[in-house]
Amino acid sequence: MNARGEDKKFKLPPLPYKENGLEPYISEKTIQFHYGKHMATYINNMNNLIAGTEYENMCLEGIVMKSEGGLFNNAAQSYNHAFYFEAFKPYDSAKVVPTGKIKELIDKSFGSFEAFKEAFTKAATTLFGSGWAWVILTKEGKLEIEQTGNADNPLKRGKKPILTIDVWEHAYYLDTQNARPKYIENFWNIIDWNVVNQRLK
Ligand SMILES: [Fe+2]
Repeated sequence: MNARGEDKKFKLPPLPYKENGLEPYISEKTIQFHYGKHMATYINNMNNLIAGTEYENMCLEGIVMKSEGGLFNNAAQSYNHAFYFEAFKPYDSAKVVPTGKIKELIDKSFGSFEAFKEAFTKAATTLFGSGWAWVILTKEGKLEIEQTGNADNPLKRGKKPILTIDVWEHAYYLDTQNARPKYIENFWNIIDWNVVNQRLK
């Protein structure tokens, strides 16, 4: 998400699907608020905070790595949301399970897709308060699951994220209200495993 305008400001990256393209799993209304309002606000806040500073010409990852406080919160939330939204695709019953390299790594690291799904679901469900669950690729070439609170992410600690789920209430409250587990169950139907495979490179 490093696209900038002529004014050097980071832009809201376009979605690789229509706003209603993830229904019935994520509604058009949630996309309009979560992507169109929450994510756009994080990017806007970041743009305002970097203007005229040493961060102005850095890439987003660089800003996340080097910043603290309010700038870190808005830069990391911009990064996290871009990472989250770009890895969805409209439901396709033939492409719900992973294939290729990510399937091999899941099997090697967790034993089976079902065991991986259970472990990631547990991490997403049990994260207390607002935050994210992540799959990361270790230097040894294995997948691991992590939880981070609020805006925090694995990139900040030099780790390589592969997949994430946003478990802030704003990600699901319009669709499933208090039922975070139902939102997580829906999530599995719309992951773009091709995008996840690209991230392994
Ligand atoms: Fe979010």
